Amino acid sequence: MEARLQLASAVSRLGTETAFEVVNRVAALEARGEQVLKLHIGAPDFRTPEHIVEAGRKALADGFHGYTPAKGLPAVREVVADYCARFHGGRVHPEQVIIVPGGKPTIFYAVLLFGEPGAEIVYPNPGFPIYESAIRWTGATPVPLELREERGFAFRADELLAKITPRTRLVILNSPANPTGGVTPKAEMDRFVKGLERHPHVAVLSDEIYSRLLYDGEQHVSILSYPEIADRAILLDGWSKTYAMTGWRMGFGVWPTSLVEHAERLQINCNSCTNAAAQMAGMEALRGPQECVDRMRAAFDARRKVIVQELNSIPGFRCGLPKGAFYAFANTAGTGVPSRELERRLLQEARVSCLSGTSFGALGEGFLRFSYASSEDTIREACRRVRELLSKPAAASR
Ligand SMILES: Cc1ncc(COP(=O)(O)O)c(C=O)c1O
Repeated sequence: MEARLQLASAVSRLGTETAFEVVNRVAALEARGEQVLKLHIGAPDFRTPEHIVEAGRKALADGFHGYTPAKGLPAVREVVADYCARFHGGRVHPEQVIIVPGGKPTIFYAVLLFGEPGAEIVYPNPGFPIYESAIRWTGATPVPLELREERGFAFRADELLAKITPRTRLVILNSPANPTGGVTPKAEMDRFVKGLERHPHVAVLSDEIYSRLLYDGEQHVSILSYPEIADRAILLDGWSKTYAMTGWRMGFGVWPTSLVEHAERLQINCNSCTNAAAQMAGMEALRGPQECVDRMRAAFDARRKVIVQELNSIPGFRCGLPKGAFYAFANTAGTGVPSRELERRLLQEARVSCLSGTSFGALGEGFLRFSYASSEDTIREACRRVRELLSKPAAASR
């Protein structure tokens, strides 16, 4: 007899990160010998710096092959705590640090700790799609915080505070942001944190995975620099974007003391611990020379200027200069083509991969996200192809 499986209803609520679907579509085209200019995935195109790779190699040779404590190797957690003091301006005890496989587990753990039917969780929209997906999985109500182009996609504290109700459990922030490159000004963060005084039932998850990728002299404002909310602020950071380590699966969370044991328990349930040798490489990344980060950031900065100029020369496109991360979020409403359709056509007809703004929430309609973690030549040629495609008579609104 044919199986008749009964899946949990939550399965139908789980979203996805479309980038991984586009990865498969691109791979299928490439397998047919097509050359695709890839601007869809949020991964640095650099190799992990050699001194970090060497630390991983040495760890394997030295026998780091087994489980580590669930929260991570004590020495690594100490280095993370020091790093937080240096780059996030906050005092962190190593006991608050949980090393996890990538940036994502900290999102899931935080949302699982607070989400359930009847609860509300505020999240940025357009924003990293896993926030809304995880919230829906738990049965909680996702409450979008709209980010607008005319404000450089930064949130306004008064608008955010107005979203808070007695049912709000968690607010998710992300600066610098994916997919917009938006950066929250310090004055807005100050106002938001001050406003939280009136809402002692609300926790904050601050996703700062792009904190080292800021341009034009912007200074990072970390949630850890607000000691007055240390008992309800969760920091997410990781190695993927800063050190070109997306495949190593290394991230960390800094948890308020009262939440550490719950998050640790989720880690034990899901992962046991994070790869031991990868932790050793990650430790070297944080305490070793940081010039590699500066070098990669300088390259992204140069590409940022190129891509924005190029995108603005495409008929129907408009793009402001992002202040952080490595994404350009172009307004494409002027083409008259819905974003998902435009994403599909750029891949099929111009062999340029990018992501529809709707991959980042309903409020991303009318936008495309281009990752500029790609060479300047690739960026120029991709934009030339798009310009050519959309310049054809009647091509734009077909
Ligand atoms: C805002 C944001 N948070 C978290 C992550 C997840 O990072 P990781 O690949 O290390 O899990 C990403 C990855 O794109 C991201 O853009």
